Amino acid sequence: MNNIAYICPITKVKLDYHAISNKINLDDSGFYYADKSPYVYPVINQTPIFFVFPTKITQSFFVRNSELIQKIKKGGICPDKSPEKGEASVQTTFTEQWTNLGDDELSFTYTHDDLIYLHKSVWLHDDPTITKKINVLNIGCGFGLEAMVLSDIFSNATIYAIDLNLSVVKAGKNLIEKSGSKVIPIAASLFHLPFGEDTFCHIHCQGVAHHTYSTQDAYKAISRHVNPKLGSIFFWVYAWEDSMGMPGFRGALIRMYWFLSHRLLRPILSRAPSSVRAFTIFTMAVPYHFLVSKRRGRLRDKWKFKNTMHGLRDMFTPQYAHQHRWNEVIGWLQESGFEMQVQKKHDFEKKFSQRMLGIGLFGKRVA
Ligand SMILES: C[S@@+](CC[C@H](N)C(=O)[O-])C[C@H]1O[C@@H](n2cnc3c(N)ncnc32)[C@H](O)[C@@H]1O
Repeated sequence: MNNIAYICPITKVKLDYHAISNKINLDDSGFYYADKSPYVYPVINQTPIFFVFPTKITQSFFVRNSELIQKIKKGGICPDKSPEKGEASVQTTFTEQWTNLGDDELSFTYTHDDLIYLHKSVWLHDDPTITKKINVLNIGCGFGLEAMVLSDIFSNATIYAIDLNLSVVKAGKNLIEKSGSKVIPIAASLFHLPFGEDTFCHIHCQGVAHHTYSTQDAYKAISRHVNPKLGSIFFWVYAWEDSMGMPGFRGALIRMYWFLSHRLLRPILSRAPSSVRAFTIFTMAVPYHFLVSKRRGRLRDKWKFKNTMHGLRDMFTPQYAHQHRWNEVIGWLQESGFEMQVQKKHDFEKKFSQRMLGIGLFGKRVA
């Protein structure tokens, strides 16, 4: 259940809610507004949309509900700022990626039980304070599967699940119902969060910040929302060493993939029309699915064509996928006063029989 007040991500004033009870568009649930601010934020399918820039979905909400909006908030307008660099492309490519996968039981290569083990034991070290946390911010929740996992792990917390992609709006009401109101879906950018600073007991940001224009700026934007006394953060990003630091034949293969993805496909596909992206990914997915992915791996019986498409979209279509060195990321967490635990490589590799990738740090504020 929502126990945190939303603030306007542009003017920082506290927002009020007005519910819509019309029969024109049953998905239009209401809107957030404030007396001291001109901006109005739609709630569609029970999901508040706190983008600071206009999108098709928010603009058509304004057209549908203009009379009511003006009655409640005279002069209320759709947020009119610009997206951060590259955000429009990131939003489009990830909306396609998650909408096509939808509510599948596999998120990337993990089942729900895998994800519980991975998050709770490998990444959060079975920390005894987990059940004491009352609110958690899940940044970049995708379609919401990750938020559902966090709601099982942080058993006494409300999980605020935010993402820039619009599939989170589609997941909205269903996510609230499935989680018994423990997950609150929100469409927003991590650079413009609708929350006051120091709000959260825990912030979970896994595989997200490296897809923004600057991983370090993204880290700074989210880490200031961690409670200064008892708060914690889990931060996972791509590691430079995984692709550039590997010796031998394997290293050469990984560097070749890096070149193909970063120098060739990402720049073209992230900017291409949706249909070109869909055609290219489909063309790659057909041979890849039948020759490689369907034959391999622990979960091959559950693995479907749409999982292959999802994986390929993730590998080749987001505009940014920065890689970082361990010391660089450790430095960011240290500078903002976190004591850190590193992801449990040995436990991961024993359980999943695959190489552990990325930089995964669990940082705790020291009281
Ligand atoms: C690779 S997915 C990871 C999703 C999820 N954490 C998981 O592992 O299942 C990266 C997610 O980050 C989101 N994202 C990228 N930039 C963002 C931003 N500025 N604000 C919020 N979410 C963002 C994308 O929309 C996408 O859903």
